Amino acid sequence: IPVIEQKNLLSLKDFTTNEILELIHFAVELKKPENKHLPLLKGKVLGMIFEKSSTRTRVSFEAGMLQLGGHAMYLSTRDIQMGRGETIADTARVLSGYLDGVMIRTFKQETVDELAQNSSVPVINGLTDEYHPCQILADLLTIYEHFGTFKGKKLTYIGDGNNVAHSLMIGAAKVGMDCTIAAPASYFPRAEMVEFAQSIASQTGAKIEVVEDPITAVTGSDIIYTDVWASMGQEEEALERTRHFTPYQVNDELVKHANPNYIFMHCLPAHREEEVTTSILEGPHSVVFQEAENRLHAQKALLVALIK
Ligand code: CP
Ligand code: NVA
Repeated sequence: IPVIEQKNLLSLKDFTTNEILELIHFAVELKKPENKHLPLLKGKVLGMIFEKSSTRTRVSFEAGMLQLGGHAMYLSTRDIQMGRGETIADTARVLSGYLDGVMIRTFKQETVDELAQNSSVPVINGLTDEYHPCQILADLLTIYEHFGTFKGKKLTYIGDGNNVAHSLMIGAAKVGMDCTIAAPASYFPRAEMVEFAQSIASQTGAKIEVVEDPITAVTGSDIIYTDVWASMGQEEEALERTRHFTPYQVNDELVKHANPNYIFMHCLPAHREEEVTTSILEGPHSVVFQEAENRLHAQKALLVALIK
């Protein structure tokens, strides 16, 4: 069982390289069919607060808790009193009396941070506008399964410099993998995230860069990753975003510049013929469903490490 110094997973920033690698190795063990139902969290209960939609996060956390011998509880902010104005601090203190851990998907990162500050049980970030750390743990597991290493590999993320892009840069930097983000200048990842990732990368030997040209970015790449152009909460910007992002579509032409044995990744849900063509998403290089399944295995490792 990996030893994690942090009480919570608020973002990958707080996790050390070693902690991330240990989680991935543990996830590989838990993924083995004979370990599927190891009762490592017998009788433990996870609360899952959702302010936004979810398929993968909700179902993988719930299935994962059940497989570990515990239970998970879906708490929509439409139903709980938090949605009617009960404070985050009060919610945190009340839930800490019932639960062994809380997963939360919300808009503002400050909500997750405040929940964690007032909670005596571990808090897991299940996506905010800034970060998506659980996704990146699954992504790193997928890359590790495919290539057996992170060193010397280059990941290129094409599209919006969003929550997934932020967490990918940080995760890549921590494990020593090169990461290039290609985005229109007005949609670059936030400067302080890039600087943070670059400062970590200088210690792990990775290279983190942000460029505008997708072809330069994809050249020599082993992993091509994209995400939707309009994230949850940005629906009304969709048209304007489409205008900016059209040159950033992952299609047959663009991937010609990648290494021949590249893999294609996407956190899903995907919008076919927008950020990625069906030919790529459904093509032989795509690992998107392995990646989606790995949410389960990576999070089981995380849950065991944090809740114990
Ligand atoms: N990738 C991801 O987080 O998917 P959901 O929004 O379905 O949870
Ligand atoms: N960037 C996307 C990821 C969804 C899993 C969003 O925030 O909506």
